Amino acid sequence: MQRLYRKRIVLGVGGGIAAYKSAELVRRLRDQGAEVRVVMTSGGREFITPLTLQALSGHPVHLDLLDPAAEAAMGHIELARWADLVLIAPTTADLMARLAQGVANDLLTTLVLATNAPIALAPAMNQAMWADPATQANRVLLQQRGIRLFGPASGSQACGDVGMGRMLEADDLAQAAADCFERSLLTGLHLLITAGPTQENIDPVRYITNHSSGKMGFALAEAAAEAGARVTLVAGPVFLPTPDRVQRVDVVSARDMLTACEAAMPCDLFIAAAAVADYRPEVIAPHKLKKDPSKGDGLLLQMVRNPDILATLAGREDRPFSVGFAAETENLLEYATRKLRDKNLDLIVANDVANPSIGFNSEENAVTVIDRQQHETRFSQASKGHIARQLIAFIADRFHQA
Ligand code: C5P
Repeated sequence: MQRLYRKRIVLGVGGGIAAYKSAELVRRLRDQGAEVRVVMTSGGREFITPLTLQALSGHPVHLDLLDPAAEAAMGHIELARWADLVLIAPTTADLMARLAQGVANDLLTTLVLATNAPIALAPAMNQAMWADPATQANRVLLQQRGIRLFGPASGSQACGDVGMGRMLEADDLAQAAADCFERSLLTGLHLLITAGPTQENIDPVRYITNHSSGKMGFALAEAAAEAGARVTLVAGPVFLPTPDRVQRVDVVSARDMLTACEAAMPCDLFIAAAAVADYRPEVIAPHKLKKDPSKGDGLLLQMVRNPDILATLAGREDRPFSVGFAAETENLLEYATRKLRDKNLDLIVANDVANPSIGFNSEENAVTVIDRQQHETRFSQASKGHIARQLIAFIADRFHQA
């Protein structure tokens, strides 16, 4: 999915050696669907030619504030209004200082003052320059004004030093730019999510459970919080840290999970990512079951159906926008479509758990989302964090359309 589809990005290029990465950045932004206009400082032009960036962005590069021809084509105020995001990569120490002081002595700094769009800086400089108190004071000032900083990263530098000050790689910058737009997607909304397995007790020491690691649900909770939602995460027994700004409720059994979800209602969106046990032992033995030779070599456990948490919440009068998961080992899309209908869902996320490189317990996933019109949207194999951010953007989009 193109996370920056039709987003208009003004890419400012300052005068640092990292400017060579800006060429790649233009490509990555466009790969994600963005329209890119490049503005270069005079320093930037010393490191990479405007022609390169013109060819890659598909538009003439904006260079001078006082160029009548450029101003006639798209003036600096027009460019400032056109932008959905102003991203400056690389941002030098000098640019940070000028921006912190509100200096408007070239096209890029003027544009920053003139725009209402969010502004993001990708600093790139020698580690001592980054650590200098003047630069750090400028950083604090800029952040206090709501300007975002992407990086810098730590590592080896072009000058031979090692430390903080390396510009982030183009891929990371493009993802961070996409995150800027997702941040507000779920602002003001309450999202409830279940994750992990449930554990159904047989006796005080034994239980029935499954292989769910909870990783996908936790990644979704994190992505939803990043997208601005108030997130309640109802988690079965898993060993995962709680994502930032997420309210976590730990539960053990399916019935506990339902009780916790009902207590968390009302919510605007419900994502059921938990692998809930369909059955539980009818009675939990009060003491550890003993081997009973009179009953031969077998053990008969009478099981009863657990409540369906997703169908219960999706069937309420104050029904949230409901998203289910279908983890299947065969007939994936057919079973998923049936579940969407039977459980009265808005969307279902189908994943093939027969494939060991994705799904249960693995670090990566690949899923297909099916809607009520049976349209399928495929998200190809990537880390669960990446898939989660894409899914949250997709779900938010559909929620707002509904
Ligand atoms: O019917 P099945 O278990 O395959 O459905 C999977 C979907 O339903 C998942 O979203 C899962 O979280 C949810 N579910 C539930 N409560 C159950 C069983 C499944 O919420 N008891």
